[in-house]
Amino acid sequence: MGMDAQATASLTNGQTSPTAVNLAIWQARYGGPETLTLQQRPIPQPNADEVLVRVHTASLEVADCFMMQGAPILVRPASGIWKPALGIPGMGLSGTVVQAGAAVSRFRPGDEVFGCCVGACATYAKASHHHLVPKPRAITWQQAAASTGSALAALHALRDTARIQPGQKILIIGAGGGIGSFAVQLARHYGAQVTGVCSTANVPLVQELGAHRVIDYTHEDFTHSAQRYDVILDNVENRPLAECRNVLAPDGLLICNSGTGAQGLAFAARLLKPILLNPFTRQKLKRYLSMPNPKDLAILGQMVVAGILRPVIGRTYPLHQTPDALRYIQSGHARGKVLVEVAS
Ligand SMILES: NC(=O)c1ccc[n+]([C@@H]2O[C@H](COP(=O)([O-])OP(=O)(O)OC[C@H]3O[C@@H](n4cnc5c(N)ncnc54)[C@H](OP(=O)(O)O)[C@@H]3O)[C@@H](O)[C@H]2O)c1
Repeated sequence: MGMDAQATASLTNGQTSPTAVNLAIWQARYGGPETLTLQQRPIPQPNADEVLVRVHTASLEVADCFMMQGAPILVRPASGIWKPALGIPGMGLSGTVVQAGAAVSRFRPGDEVFGCCVGACATYAKASHHHLVPKPRAITWQQAAASTGSALAALHALRDTARIQPGQKILIIGAGGGIGSFAVQLARHYGAQVTGVCSTANVPLVQELGAHRVIDYTHEDFTHSAQRYDVILDNVENRPLAECRNVLAPDGLLICNSGTGAQGLAFAARLLKPILLNPFTRQKLKRYLSMPNPKDLAILGQMVVAGILRPVIGRTYPLHQTPDALRYIQSGHARGKVLVEVAS
């Protein structure tokens, strides 16, 4: 039995053993990707309502960059006030349960799962059992890991925040990214008329995902169009609110959905502006916060099984190259989901 097999076996019995090894991408202080290194870390101990998972594939989010940098400052209560509380990136995973907390009846060691967590870029990660669901056999480890935070955010934007209706015209800005690539497919599934905005390289992808029209922002400025949209999902927010509202129907909904591209007071102002303006306009201006839940994770898994959703896996990195994966996300031009293969 190899080292890893021994580790899994000892954990399967609900005990940590001196032979169990937890390799993790870890940072001791806030900073850029250069602060992250491959280290041997203690195996996380699951609380009563948590599950310890041997990670197969980890999924990264834009929020991993916030947690890594401890910025914007709003993340510090969750990420650690002075230094990273956990220091391991990865907010989505697929893998195998090795230990379930005392209050967990939904999972047993050996169950294959996927869902949301913190610290997925490690051999072992723990997660609330409310944030995990069984992995359908018909989908791959990669597809499962990719169908977590961004997929939930797309579902919560379109189904819950916009309550999108068949025939409505929707504009999705950042259509080739983590959320956008799911949002295009979901909007199409809900019967909307979909226009995606992305760079030249992503035009064929966004077309393949089902957009009726794709605007290449390097050639065309969508804010100068005569078209009016019922819903705009803005995953980038690099244009002034007023310019986006120019192409929003008089009773349309603009969902502002980006945390990047501004710092300090400018960030706070951008965050608050649509919320403060909303009561005074006929157009609706909203932000929303997507939270993981097992029902929606299961819905997404079934949509992938049914072929309704195709997770776009833009790039996959080995565990030791996680800093490069985060650099790619920080570029602001990631295509689809960025994954880290932990098991390999
Ligand atoms: N509300 C919530 O609960 C929630 C949850 C998760 C994430 N978020 C936020 O949602 C935002 C988007 O997340 P994500 O995972 O989709 O990010 P992402 O994977 O980095 O995708 C962003 C996409 O935008 C494209 N883009 C860049 N500049 C553009 C421009 N000027 N016009 C149009 N497209 C442009 C990029 O590629 P190309 O330029 O090459 O096309 C990229 O594909 C983040 O700021 C994140 O913080 C919110």
